[in-house]
Amino acid sequence: MYQPHTHCRACGLGKPGAQGIKANATNSLIPVFDLGIQPLANDFCGPYEERAGYAPLKVLLCPRCKLAQLSVVVRPEILYAKYSYVTSNSDTMVKHFDALDKVIREETDGRRLLEIGSNDGRMLAFFQSRNMVVCGIDPADNLAAVARSQGLRTITGLFDPHTASIAAAEGLPDVVLARHVFCHVDDWKAFINCLSLVSHPETVIGIEVPHAHDMLERGEFDTIYHEHTSYLSIRSMQALLEDSPFRMFRVEHFPIHGGAILLLLRRKDSNNVGCSIEHHLESEQVDESAWKSFSLRARENISSLKEFVSTQRANGKSVCGFGASAKSTVWVNACGFSRKDLLFITDTTLHKQWKLSPGTDIPIVDEGAILRELPDYAVCFAWNFRNEILEKNALARSKGVKFVFPIPELEIV
Ligand code: TMP
Repeated sequence: MYQPHTHCRACGLGKPGAQGIKANATNSLIPVFDLGIQPLANDFCGPYEERAGYAPLKVLLCPRCKLAQLSVVVRPEILYAKYSYVTSNSDTMVKHFDALDKVIREETDGRRLLEIGSNDGRMLAFFQSRNMVVCGIDPADNLAAVARSQGLRTITGLFDPHTASIAAAEGLPDVVLARHVFCHVDDWKAFINCLSLVSHPETVIGIEVPHAHDMLERGEFDTIYHEHTSYLSIRSMQALLEDSPFRMFRVEHFPIHGGAILLLLRRKDSNNVGCSIEHHLESEQVDESAWKSFSLRARENISSLKEFVSTQRANGKSVCGFGASAKSTVWVNACGFSRKDLLFITDTTLHKQWKLSPGTDIPIVDEGAILRELPDYAVCFAWNFRNEILEKNALARSKGVKFVFPIPELEIV
């Protein structure tokens, strides 16, 4: 089901024979965070369906380029064949697409866009509506089919030389976007080689990833799960690009998903040099001591939510979860919750409904359950949509349902 991962995928540290480095105690990756053995965060199954299984959830830090990465890599066929993560269609997300569009327009007039990891085509549809000629590549059969049914050109498969060549044959894109994909990829050198296949010298490549700095600063440990094999810093991307045909020329910070960075790359043979990104490196705090504080804070947050739920249940109060995000799987398993603790978790995503939260017996139900059941507390695991969720649940809140946000510190609203 998974392979151990022992070298740095950005700078090669710990890779036997790489750049003259031999693996030994002083140049190996350092363990900085450990949640034990956990289920796969998006493995939403019915009660009688076979589950994919469990794997260690442990983070190793590269002492040289500060890339944090999981100690194992779960086979992509297991993680993505029947993928249930669907890009949100929330207002927050549409605003974010708008912001991306603005950045892209500042960099290029080109109209051909390729999205790597296009999911069900939500972002492709947005850019198509802005007169772009779009094409997506995605490994999830079920989601690629949804995109195609809406007239969005989608190639099914992982981003590899085969799918890259198919996309390139249709015309080299002026913009390549990979949103929250890069941190899922194991072999970065191969990914970069494929980017060479789909780019001309002026192609703008936007890689959006959660920023490890933000995750550490805000204590967002629930974004650590098996799909995210790496926790990127700008520094580690620079280390990766050193021997590549690409240069990073711009960095943008966004609040989406609890703090993301858009790393913009162009080929080194581009006429457009771009500006320096050095100032972004100075403020980045992603070293071992930042991980130590983060780990302590995560333990405290987990204890706080466990204690809160057990106290409420002991007092006869009802508690449910809100938003069956992958983050919710991390929380419920880290806290060891079962249906006795959380009656259900609501989610708007149809194909998550009537499944169980991975690793537990907690059912996922439709969002109407909040008003039907009027639980005393709803623990919000989709905290990244906080304002939107509080607004749209005004009626339930007026009827006494309190929303609990477990991050950055437990807060009852
Ligand atoms: P994400 O944080 O990984 O995008 O996942 C958010 C999940 O929360 C996703 O499954 C959709 C769900 N959700 C709701 O159920 N209700 C909502 O109002 C919002 C914004 C998200």
